[in-house]
Amino acid sequence: MRIYETRDYRDMSRKAANVISAQMILKPDCVLGLATGSTPIGVYEQLVDWYQKGDLDFSQVKTVNLDEYRGLAPDHEQSYHYFMDRHLFSRVNINRSHIHIPDGMNEDWQEECGRYEQMIEELGGIDLQILGLGHNGHIGFNEPDFQFAPLTRRVDLTESTIEANRRFFSEGESVPRQAYTMGIKAIMSARKILLLVSGADKADILKKVMEGPITPQVPASILQLHPDVTVIADREALGKL
Ligand code: GLP
Repeated sequence: MRIYETRDYRDMSRKAANVISAQMILKPDCVLGLATGSTPIGVYEQLVDWYQKGDLDFSQVKTVNLDEYRGLAPDHEQSYHYFMDRHLFSRVNINRSHIHIPDGMNEDWQEECGRYEQMIEELGGIDLQILGLGHNGHIGFNEPDFQFAPLTRRVDLTESTIEANRRFFSEGESVPRQAYTMGIKAIMSARKILLLVSGADKADILKKVMEGPITPQVPASILQLHPDVTVIADREALGKL
């Protein structure tokens, strides 16, 4: 794993946006694997800014998102469809038919997950996968488990993830307990991976991910086996390494 230490969140976001831009310039029809959560918001802002200045073109780019809550409609403010639209897709010249996110409203989870898996294969896999890191080491919604799960599937979210997400939902509103997530196989098959981590609250888990044993109890630890991972993390997140 290559590690880039940045001064702060802003610096992390700019460096990551530079890597993504380089990918888009070298291969204009690249497949980008995208993440949600608070970590990549600054990256998307920077990409939008460069797009508005005329330096980036999304017209041929294809995107594959990691996950979506089960049961949330695309227009629900906490859905990942809504998130992506708000932070990136509605602000750049991406072709709508090039955007892929699991359909949380498809109740037939086997059909939905099978469709998603096949779609990634038909795209020829992912050129550059962006990842954030959950406090329990999850990537996408691949939660700690007794084995690594390879395929796109329906998952039960852990109590800690449900609690962490609660702040985004209004009082009394039920927080989703399930999600559809891309599995470890599609993530590990990406040609390049960019792991973004910011903040002192992620320092312990980042140390486990990078220096601890490879275990499904820390799902991101499997990234140690990938040949091309770049970690861009701020000083605070790297504080325990
Ligand atoms: C969610 C997402 C993950 C993300 C994680 C961390 O659970 N499914 O893809 O990486 O949160 O979120 P944050 O960046 O807000 O810490």
